[in-house]
Amino acid sequence: MSQNDLFSGGDSSNELPSDSAAESIQSLRNHINEHNHKYYVLDEPSIPDAEYDRLMRELQALEDANPELITSDSPTQRVGGAPLVGFTEVQHERPMLSLDNAMNADEFAAFYQRVQDRLKTDEPLEFACEPKLDGLAISLLYVNGVLERAATRGDGQTGEDVTQNVRTIKNVPLRLQGNQTPTRIEIRGEVYMPKAGFDAYNDRARENEEKVFANPRNAAAGSLRQLDSRITAKRPLEFCAYSLGIVSDDFDMPDTHSAQLAQVQVWGVRINEEMRVVNGLEEAQTFFTQLGEKRHQLGYEIDGTVFKINSLALQETLGFVARAPRWAIAYKFPAVEELTVLQDVDFQVGRTGALTPVARLKPVHVAGVTVSNATLHNMDEIARLGVKIGDTVIVRRAGDVIPQVVAVVEERRPDDARDIVMPPACPVCESHIERVEGEAVTRCTGGLVCSAQRKEAIKHFASRKALDVEGLGDKLIDQMVAASLIDSLDDVFHLTLDDIAGLERMAEKSAQNVLNALEKSKATTLGRFIYSLGIREVGTVTAQNLANHFGFLERIMNASVDVLLDVPDVGNIVAQHLVNFFAEEHNRTVIEQLQKSGVHWDESEPVNAADDAPLAGKTAVITGTLSDMSRDDAKLALEALGVKVTGSVSAKTDFLVAGDKAGSKLTKAQNLGVRVFDEEAFKALLKTPRLD
Ligand code: IVH
Repeated sequence: MSQNDLFSGGDSSNELPSDSAAESIQSLRNHINEHNHKYYVLDEPSIPDAEYDRLMRELQALEDANPELITSDSPTQRVGGAPLVGFTEVQHERPMLSLDNAMNADEFAAFYQRVQDRLKTDEPLEFACEPKLDGLAISLLYVNGVLERAATRGDGQTGEDVTQNVRTIKNVPLRLQGNQTPTRIEIRGEVYMPKAGFDAYNDRARENEEKVFANPRNAAAGSLRQLDSRITAKRPLEFCAYSLGIVSDDFDMPDTHSAQLAQVQVWGVRINEEMRVVNGLEEAQTFFTQLGEKRHQLGYEIDGTVFKINSLALQETLGFVARAPRWAIAYKFPAVEELTVLQDVDFQVGRTGALTPVARLKPVHVAGVTVSNATLHNMDEIARLGVKIGDTVIVRRAGDVIPQVVAVVEERRPDDARDIVMPPACPVCESHIERVEGEAVTRCTGGLVCSAQRKEAIKHFASRKALDVEGLGDKLIDQMVAASLIDSLDDVFHLTLDDIAGLERMAEKSAQNVLNALEKSKATTLGRFIYSLGIREVGTVTAQNLANHFGFLERIMNASVDVLLDVPDVGNIVAQHLVNFFAEEHNRTVIEQLQKSGVHWDESEPVNAADDAPLAGKTAVITGTLSDMSRDDAKLALEALGVKVTGSVSAKTDFLVAGDKAGSKLTKAQNLGVRVFDEEAFKALLKTPRLD
């Protein structure tokens, strides 16, 4: 029978005699619980949300009509009850222990040795290993399979009753699956907020100008401490089981930790998918290292690995001291967050002229590295953090990511804390700075005169798609700038053989090659020249479109935004960048100098409107290696003739340009009967652009 047959009778359901109502209610609950389990525990949604909602509404309606049939394990009872006045205390029948830490490999090895000594064995130890989740420990008590009470760890002996809140966590089963459960069982684990939910929550909080959480652990703890469970219900919390408390002896539990968790999973409770059983110190260390590498790909925060002796009998033998078991340890990853003081903020000018506020911090050790700088990204981020100079801040260094300031400890703000303000001009070259509307970034307009941007500008200028100066690579340019040989683009054309040969690892022959390449690069095209200037957002295609449209550099330099908007591919932002670039006197000077040094290109009246182009409306694909021309140049040449160059061959392709070592695209073109030009034929086509 399908769900529809079962439940869509709808209209008369409120008047069902209560026997059959009870059956329908049970059946609906089973269905909903099954979907919940698939969705929240297995992460495998099985029905559309709308269908799920429909089942829930149907159940709700039946329960409204038959309130005597409502039970605490009904899926409708996840959010219920009035806000609490306070939390009641819960005495843990078995203490909720904490864990000793190992902070490095030596400490872990010492733990391993201690356990072997206590067990008087040299045999490798078997551990169940799990991620150490960064959330809050919770105990779930199931009586006859139904969730009766959820409690925080508290001091380990006495916790707080947070049942109402925990019931709102979707992957906590309100009833364990299957009929085979102990009468009483306490499942312990961590409540945490996955990274995605955490980010989404904070984004929304920021929009609504509400308090943001500094990290997922605070988020989980803060959410569970709500007296109003309707608030908790809106927080994206999850639960993951990692141990058991009391278990009534009417159920035969397996005798290893890993097998017990597998049993818990059968009852529909999430356990951690990274859990493994390992043998011996080396395997344990490998697990730790590999989990550390994987850490940042996981959907939730972890701060280490928990190793537990897998055999429960051995756990018993080992026992515990004070508040921590002797049979387990939390082997921690190096801390990624620390507190320090923001001493000052500098503005760095990057490659594209972007002014990035950089936090100068009181040096602090984070994850094994001394951190004294962290990025603050941009002024919006500063406003979002509400950070001031003098503040105590939390710095975070995760993986290879550059250190970040993630939060401010406002209680520690000193009286003389200062606002962070954008400098009035570029701190490097004193050119104007601008912030384009809709962008978070402020930029220096100095372009080529700004030394911060110069090195990158020169690299761009010499690069393959720009003036293509063979042999003048990034490393050589770094050396030249460091040796003060080049300050502006034009300087590259005034280098002497001695200049270049004087650099490290530069033989005279290669120096001469660079000089030759520089000479050769002076003969270029207008498109390449425009691209080589490194104007923001002007890539090869836009540059070529500008060349095609205007024909003369002078016209591009003097074009207004309105006129520029007629060029294909040029929108408001690009047009504004172009106007700004050419409005700077120093940029015009550089262009003039370059022309004086001999950089030249052909200029001619543009071939107007693409429709007039000789091959307008044709589509082509280029593949393989051309010996006399790069594929980019071939593409630009074709585009200038009105051809649309695409990446894949189809029946609509008019022709294929096939260079050397053409592969599957050539085969496909041949199969489809698409016309193929080899390099010779292609060159002939460029000379006489006609397809007949
Ligand atoms: S086992 C006796 N396993 O770490 C064993 N704890 O410092 C008790 N935690 O309060 C805990 N992930 O909140 C265990 N996989 C894991 C864990 C874990 C996180 C937390 C837990 C506990 C604290 C102990």
